[in-house]
Amino acid sequence: MKPRLFLSRKLPDLAMQRLNEAFDLRFNPEDRALSKKEIMEGVKDAEALICLLTDNIDKEVILSAENLRVISCYSVGFNNVDLEAANERGIAVCNTAGVLTESTADLTWALIMATCRRISESERFLREGRFKAWEPLLMLGQDVHGKTLGILGMGRIGQAVAKRAFGFDMRIIYHNGGWEVGSLPYEAEEVDLDTLLKESDILTLHTPLTPETRHLIGKAQIELMKPTSVLINTARGAIVDEAELIKALKDKRIFGAGFDVYEQEPYLPPELLALDNVVLLPHIGSASIETRTKMGMMAIENALAVLEGRIPLARVN
Ligand code: DGY
Repeated sequence: MKPRLFLSRKLPDLAMQRLNEAFDLRFNPEDRALSKKEIMEGVKDAEALICLLTDNIDKEVILSAENLRVISCYSVGFNNVDLEAANERGIAVCNTAGVLTESTADLTWALIMATCRRISESERFLREGRFKAWEPLLMLGQDVHGKTLGILGMGRIGQAVAKRAFGFDMRIIYHNGGWEVGSLPYEAEEVDLDTLLKESDILTLHTPLTPETRHLIGKAQIELMKPTSVLINTARGAIVDEAELIKALKDKRIFGAGFDVYEQEPYLPPELLALDNVVLLPHIGSASIETRTKMGMMAIENALAVLEGRIPLARVN
């Protein structure tokens, strides 16, 4: 008999095929996020759950699923899962660490370029029919090459972002919250958080969201940043105090921000949407066909490994 797995939302086709082969699959047939009640109903008799970063897998959900042995996150982030409750029940929690590193680093660079060179704003200007002539002062941005790239969180994604900076002749500095970073194949200097904030021309966030990193970038930290600097976030929205960021952008205390993630996703404050010095994306860091398929295959393999008593590719508890 195949083990029962509940999937909270449809995944790319190849992953769906594999799920159907390997599991007694129950899944949400509608292309919408499920409510907590619906997730509880779905996971009731399941031995495995594949969930999204938007599903709140809290204690109540975990306790309601008596047969559950593995929660396999279709994401590298797992801040949506109550790890303590999972530990209490002896449920393995797995993620898709590794397979989305390069795609997320690519998108981080798209945001760096777009924010520094005002790409979205320039395109809006052109589409609105306002481009009348080449002008010496039209849409002046910040150079990227030769600048200092600051990386907060020098894990897999932070390192992949740093690797790409090599072609731009950048100085790389980073802060990793005291966690050891092995040897790097390029020159990069470890600094304390204040130095990172003061010296970065481009500050990019790649730390997980934990109680310690929530609002790590707030008023005091933004005040240390250069007025010409840009802040990039492809990690988790709540690492930044969004209200303070909006104030700083309004007052032009920093040059701009490029964001893929938000504090209360998918809600975006109207004040943020109204600003021109921001580039805003709908959480698409890993959204390539190849990567989303690999994430599906990895989430499936993680679930199977736990159920079959093997070591999963990435377990977080
Ligand atoms: C993740 O995996 O945590 C990303 O935010 C989405 O792929």
